Amino acid sequence: MEQKLEKFKQILAEVVDLNHASAVAGWDQQVYMPRGGAVDRGNILETLAAIAHKKFTSDEVGKLLEELKPYAETLEPDSDDACLIKRVAHDYDKETRVPSRWVADFARVTTLAQTAWEEAKTDNKFEVFQPHLEEVVKLRREYADFFKPYDHIYDPLLDDFEPGMKTVDVERIFNALRPQQVDLLKKIAAKPEIDDSFLHVPYSEQGQWDFGVEVITRFGFDWNRGRQDKSMHPFTTSFGVDDVRITTRFDPKRAASALFSTIHEGGHALYEQGISPTLRRTPLADGASMAVHESQSRMWENMVGRSKAFWKFFYPRLVEIFPQQLANVSMEQYYRGINKVEPSLIRVEADEATYNLHIMLRMELEIGLMEGKIQVKDLPEIWNSKMKEYLGIVPPDNREGVLQDVHWCGGAFGYFPTYALGNLVSAQIWEKLNQDIPNLEDQISQGKFDEMLGWLRSKIHRFGKKFESQDLVKRVTGSTITPEPYMRYLKTKYTEIYNL
Ligand code: CO
Repeated sequence: MEQKLEKFKQILAEVVDLNHASAVAGWDQQVYMPRGGAVDRGNILETLAAIAHKKFTSDEVGKLLEELKPYAETLEPDSDDACLIKRVAHDYDKETRVPSRWVADFARVTTLAQTAWEEAKTDNKFEVFQPHLEEVVKLRREYADFFKPYDHIYDPLLDDFEPGMKTVDVERIFNALRPQQVDLLKKIAAKPEIDDSFLHVPYSEQGQWDFGVEVITRFGFDWNRGRQDKSMHPFTTSFGVDDVRITTRFDPKRAASALFSTIHEGGHALYEQGISPTLRRTPLADGASMAVHESQSRMWENMVGRSKAFWKFFYPRLVEIFPQQLANVSMEQYYRGINKVEPSLIRVEADEATYNLHIMLRMELEIGLMEGKIQVKDLPEIWNSKMKEYLGIVPPDNREGVLQDVHWCGGAFGYFPTYALGNLVSAQIWEKLNQDIPNLEDQISQGKFDEMLGWLRSKIHRFGKKFESQDLVKRVTGSTITPEPYMRYLKTKYTEIYNL
């Protein structure tokens, strides 16, 4: 059996290497590739993905799994090998249930949908995107059917991003969260607006870059095992446990945007850099799920990066770098400015108090589409009425409404909920972290993060993808994913800032 396990690991290692090669090519595409390289790069990525898929879904892997599954039962359940066999069996089952005919159709339809979406967004013509989205929805409903019997048609889609999570669980969590978020927002809206005009003046790119680097270096980002570059959309990617890449971008109209994107991606990278080297070249050298990954980036970005303790330490440095822009701005004013709440049309620009409402709206529409209760043609109207209901504002056109996100043209239904779940998990972990390290706030205000990072490494990062997200969150916090800590966090923070 040892030999079979070795053979199994050898094949998986090759699949992981191929995926890392794709990641290198994908990273380069977004960071350095000249625009003319798109066709050549597309070919490279397609070939690598096809070889990796073929290797992973081969009969040999299937046979090895059949033999290894009973063996896994005899192992210590939390051991690397037992977890590896279990998680790979889950992914193998999913990937082999989907016929290659569907995969080819899906690739073709979503490629066309991408172009149509770009045109529809530029020209504000939903009708250009509509027939393509109808095709995507049809294929996604077919996809779900490959996983029958399911409790809910949305379950197999959600499982792609949040393994083990059920629609009914997310709905229960969101139903408890929604009224509390709407209520908090109403209270804040009744208070005087915060002045954040000092954030909307020019800040030099170099200064922003240097400050961001200084911050994540203090957090513990290992520059010997990672680097930062610039790209249009910030992202984190990994080529192995010892090579983790992040990117950032600069927005001349939003000075804080580069800083918080560096901190956010830095949070993802700290997770990846903390994965145990014993998981190298296995599919377990990854985050537990999208939500757990996002909980790490959000925690560093929001709980740390938008806290008063953080700015007590870093604000004098920021003023040193930007003496003109911040000459007449106190730390208190700056802190309030970066935490200003304002219902906005665009999800990616939303603040902490409104962000989850954007997500709930999208998930309700996705479920409606999958269940067949919502028609694609009615999306703009339903979108606008839900925006009015949840955020109190209505987009002037579909560009700033239903057409704003890229996810649907790629068929990524089930992805959005993980953003909001990540927020909730970040608060659950944050509460536990503060219980275990009672003087954490003092440490942060002295620029000390090593004990916090050590805690995260030992409780979360080192395990990589060994456990499903609900299981991991429960091991760390004593509870599965729940909205209460997040609401406590929001209410405490904004009661102080807005004097509620
Ligand atoms: Co993220």
